[in-house]
Amino acid sequence: MQYGFFDDLNREYVITTPTTPYPWINYLGSQEYFSLISNTAGGYSFYKDAKLRRITRFRYNNVPLDLGGGRYYYINDGGDVWSPGWAPAKKELENYECRHGMGYTKISGERGGVETNITFFVPLNTNAEVHKVIVKNKTNDNKKVKLFSFVEWCLWNALDDMTNFQRNYNTGEVEVKGSVIYHKTEYKERRNHYAFFSVNAPICGFDSDRESFIGTYNGFENPQAVYAGQSNNSVADGWHPIASHCVEVDLEPGETKEYIFLLGYVENDLEDKWESKNIINKKKAEAMIEAFKTVDAVDKALKELSEYWDQLLSKYRIDSADDKLNRMVNIWNQYQCMVTFNLSRSASYFESGIGRGMGFRDSNQDLLGFVHQIPDRARERIIDLASTQLEDGGAYHQYQPLTKKGNDEIGGNFNDDPLWLILAVVAYIKETGDFSILDVMTPFDNDETKSTPLSDHLKRSFDHVIHNLGPHGLPLIGRADWNDCLNLNCFSMEPGESFQTTTSKDGKVAESVMIAGMFCYIGEEYAKLMKKTGNDSEADRAYLEVDKMRKTIMEHGWDGSWFVRAYDDFGRKVGSDDNEEGKIFIESQGLCIMGNCGMEDGKAIKALDAVEERLATKYGLVLQNPAFTKYYVEYGEISTYPAGYKENAGIFCHNNAWIMAAEALVGRGDKAFDYYTRIAPAYTEEYSEIHRMEPYVYSQMVAGKDAKRHGEAKNSWLTGTASWNFIAISQYILGIKPEYDGLQIDPSIPKSWDGYKITREFRGDIYEITIKNPNHVSSGVVKLTVDGKEVEGNILPIFGDKKKHVAEVILG
Ligand code: BGC
Ligand code: NOJ
Repeated sequence: MQYGFFDDLNREYVITTPTTPYPWINYLGSQEYFSLISNTAGGYSFYKDAKLRRITRFRYNNVPLDLGGGRYYYINDGGDVWSPGWAPAKKELENYECRHGMGYTKISGERGGVETNITFFVPLNTNAEVHKVIVKNKTNDNKKVKLFSFVEWCLWNALDDMTNFQRNYNTGEVEVKGSVIYHKTEYKERRNHYAFFSVNAPICGFDSDRESFIGTYNGFENPQAVYAGQSNNSVADGWHPIASHCVEVDLEPGETKEYIFLLGYVENDLEDKWESKNIINKKKAEAMIEAFKTVDAVDKALKELSEYWDQLLSKYRIDSADDKLNRMVNIWNQYQCMVTFNLSRSASYFESGIGRGMGFRDSNQDLLGFVHQIPDRARERIIDLASTQLEDGGAYHQYQPLTKKGNDEIGGNFNDDPLWLILAVVAYIKETGDFSILDVMTPFDNDETKSTPLSDHLKRSFDHVIHNLGPHGLPLIGRADWNDCLNLNCFSMEPGESFQTTTSKDGKVAESVMIAGMFCYIGEEYAKLMKKTGNDSEADRAYLEVDKMRKTIMEHGWDGSWFVRAYDDFGRKVGSDDNEEGKIFIESQGLCIMGNCGMEDGKAIKALDAVEERLATKYGLVLQNPAFTKYYVEYGEISTYPAGYKENAGIFCHNNAWIMAAEALVGRGDKAFDYYTRIAPAYTEEYSEIHRMEPYVYSQMVAGKDAKRHGEAKNSWLTGTASWNFIAISQYILGIKPEYDGLQIDPSIPKSWDGYKITREFRGDIYEITIKNPNHVSSGVVKLTVDGKEVEGNILPIFGDKKKHVAEVILG
């Protein structure tokens, strides 16, 4: 069952009922000001950091879920109170539609002959969101309605705001000037930032104190001021500051009126100091309000946003016979890659924005799916990440985006972390050809006195693995590897400790075959990079280490039919046929094959066959099998999950992409693409009632075959699934791979395909690539021509003339 449809021309998903199986959200903003907005206008906004600079308040885990706060609008039409986005008033609408597009959301609702259409977006280079509200009288009579706006301010630090009431109920301060309501509560550190909410029309009243607006015993669905048809002109003094305007809208039959509301944030410089504690410096807010005071200016900004996305999405485009594939590759997957790049795992309807900052492992991987869009921002991110690295090559697991400092509370010791940095840097250089990044002096632990060139950080990442090998010569797992919940060093865990820091044998026994596979895959990339930069001795050293690790994997990491997952703290195999539960894990199959293990002797194929037999379901591949049905103290958190959920045999969509890549590498394009379609959202749309999450973006996890709710997704939006699935489809399956010297063409597709066309902007040139499959094979380029001339091999050369080049590829 569907709850809407894709409008590909407008790059929108159109939701046709407000009561989707779960709030289906979108993100506004892609630079510094961000908003989450649901299909009923719920959500919140923040500046840079969802924890430290939260602008509007949101209650997670609310009942009902999506009434936790939002940008709410109400209409009072002669006593009939309703909301154009259905919520919060929840009055039945005669028409409802929500269009989530690239960086904007349009919600329209109609009741009693009044149609209200609201476009929400964050203009480029602006720290504010626009709400363009259009009210239309569709009746033959004059209408006099009152339009109320509403946002609730958060007192900046979202965690403190939710917990420290004894203090915070005293601090709220606002200032009202004309149609602008300023929120100027200072936070403990006393900075002179503030927020504001304005409308470009005279108002008939306002409220800035929540209780006055809503009433002590009412809720968002029935604020007393809206029902009374009159604001109270309340000025908040502590308690809960809000901003609500009341606008009188008089409409003749058929008449339309448009209003621009602006919700903005101002980060003042020192010279912009407030005049006094009571009067804030409004210059910057006034300039923003001025810039967006007319409908023309707003429409222009919306057009600019659309052109910005035209340009971002033009870098990789497919034209194929499969609409679902086209919309995933051309629109939604790339869009989600941008969102995960910006927000890591910080703020979604599953991540509270206070728990996590930017992940080291996560951000490096997110960058893989984003680097072609805005390489300069990827470069900056790489330096931010590498600056949090530790001298021994290890890394803080996360950092806070506002301070860019490593987060001590979470610490480090996830032994896969350092390798992802190498992969990100390699992807950046292959995309841009900018080797100079390797020379950037980059601090350790943000300490400028401890700076070395980025290339040295990569070396330390590589060495971190070989300095931390276990009894079998495989990498020690540390606190966990990519699988956060496989905690093999955990027996001395103290009650109440959430993450294990102590181990029975000082963490010197438990090993990860997954990290070993990663080391072969990413370590080889490191070796190639060293070769490319002329550092032959380092390249040779790296190749030797990688070779050695491959041998170790085949000796100690091969179980007979698949790759072992790990060794536990007793030196026993994890993910082996010898185990009763958790016999086979997905991660080591994907990564070892990507690391070129078992390719020549048929072992890779054998492992992939085992994946199909034991892990595949119609909704995707489960993480391991059989699921754990009891708690294993020696495995940790993974076995605390009920069977079929999360890391305990859920379908973790992130690692499904590694199997797609592995299938593509062994030349089985049919299987690679089949797995792709099992989890790609456009293909899950038709069973949205089971899947429940947004059909336009990936979710982190879908309940596995052992779960009661098999097929139901959770944790949509912020997941490495976005970038890895984009890599799997764009590079491994469709086969367009950036390389140091050109664009490599190496498809691995279903045999039935006749061909497809890719347009790829690369190093400034535009390649129009037509891939033909006359003999119905999966892979193998037999002929490649560029601009009519045949090219040896399968690499399109770099022309550097910023022109269009037409390539034809024949598979056979
Ligand atoms: C989740 C993981 C997540 C981790 C973050 C675990 O409970 O299952 O998916 O990465 O928490 O700390
Ligand atoms: C989500 C985390 O963000 C990611 O870092 C981790 O690899 C996966 N969960 C698997 O545990």
